[in-house]
Amino acid sequence: MKLLVTGGAGFIGSAFVRMAIAGSRAAQVVNLDQLTYAGNLENLVPVAGDSRYRFVRGDICDARLVDALVADVRPDAIVHFAAESHVDRSILSPAPVFETNLRGTFTLLEAARGNRVPRFLHVSTDEVYGSIEAPAEADEDYPLRPSSPYSASKAGSDLLALSYFVTYRLPVTVTRASNNYGPYQFPEKLIPLMLTNAFDGLPLPVYGDGMQIRDWLFVDDHCRAIFAALEKGRPGEIYNIGGNCSLPNLEVVRRILAATHRPDDLVRYVTDRPGHDRRYALSGEKLARETGWSPEVSFDEGLARTIQWYRSNADWIRRVKSGEYQTYYELNYGNR
Ligand code: NAD
Ligand code: TYD
Repeated sequence: MKLLVTGGAGFIGSAFVRMAIAGSRAAQVVNLDQLTYAGNLENLVPVAGDSRYRFVRGDICDARLVDALVADVRPDAIVHFAAESHVDRSILSPAPVFETNLRGTFTLLEAARGNRVPRFLHVSTDEVYGSIEAPAEADEDYPLRPSSPYSASKAGSDLLALSYFVTYRLPVTVTRASNNYGPYQFPEKLIPLMLTNAFDGLPLPVYGDGMQIRDWLFVDDHCRAIFAALEKGRPGEIYNIGGNCSLPNLEVVRRILAATHRPDDLVRYVTDRPGHDRRYALSGEKLARETGWSPEVSFDEGLARTIQWYRSNADWIRRVKSGEYQTYYELNYGNR
């Protein structure tokens, strides 16, 4: 398969590209990425010299560029990761979220339609279902009740993508994954933020009471699920991808403190996130039934692998946490 990947310099996209090339799951991968604050070519060093891989820097909102690229590459599938992916940033500054996640997805769908791309996989999130009261779990028909500008933009782009299947018969599949973690994740998200702060002996800022529940999915399991959906999933369908690992945030933070041999009093309870979803919970039964996929990496193993990776990549952390990151950190946490 010849794949056009968007957002392949980010956390999940780069894991997918590395897996596609290292596992010879794709004959060719073209990676379109704008290299925003979250995009990092260091994440792609393992594939950079491979003749099956090509990087193109560009904005998915640039209709001329996107259309010309799709016409040139003639991919067997587009796998669309590119997004503004962070809830807190979407609260501080919603405009880029709507540009990239809605207009960017629209631009790609139009290019896919115009060039008759045979497969379009839209990567989405469990956050589109909003907060879910225990003990319920969202299946793919669960109502969409997004709470943040980020999750609302993802819900909107999911519906737009699915409308292209209904209206134009563009073979779109939507996947909705739970919270990912693993190597190369930008340290604005819970696990790498807490981990890198713990390394430095800095406070760990827990929002509200820390009892919000997330379902954790190791990034390589997510990538395997995307390949499963691409190869065996049906066009016009949505597939949830869950990690079978629900934990309160405070428990995650405590495990990080224990693993890094730091004291519990590094925890700082800070003002809660506005509109904070209390609990996410997914049923991934449909993907398991139709493709045979299931998560392979337990949370203990995934966290140990993640910690090991961050321990071994101090230079990556230092570069990523310099510059713009400091401004963001002060803005989000300075007066909390
Ligand atoms: P990320 O923020 O690490 O990476 C996003 C990538 O998209 C970056 O490389 C960035 O440069 C690129 N990008 C942003 N705007 C762009 C634009 N206009 N044009 C081209 N490239 C652009 O994100 P991630 O955590 O890897 O998430 C990838 C996808 O997976 C997103 O669609 C996200 O909604 C979805 N998702 C993420 C999670 C999670 O836990 N991180 C869970 C479920 C779904
Ligand atoms: P995050 O990684 O931002 O993912 P999402 O909001 O998409 O689930 O946050 C995961 C959980 O951790 C969420 O409940 C918010 C919480 N959180 C904190 O308590 N402190 C923090 O500094 C961050 C970044 C997140």
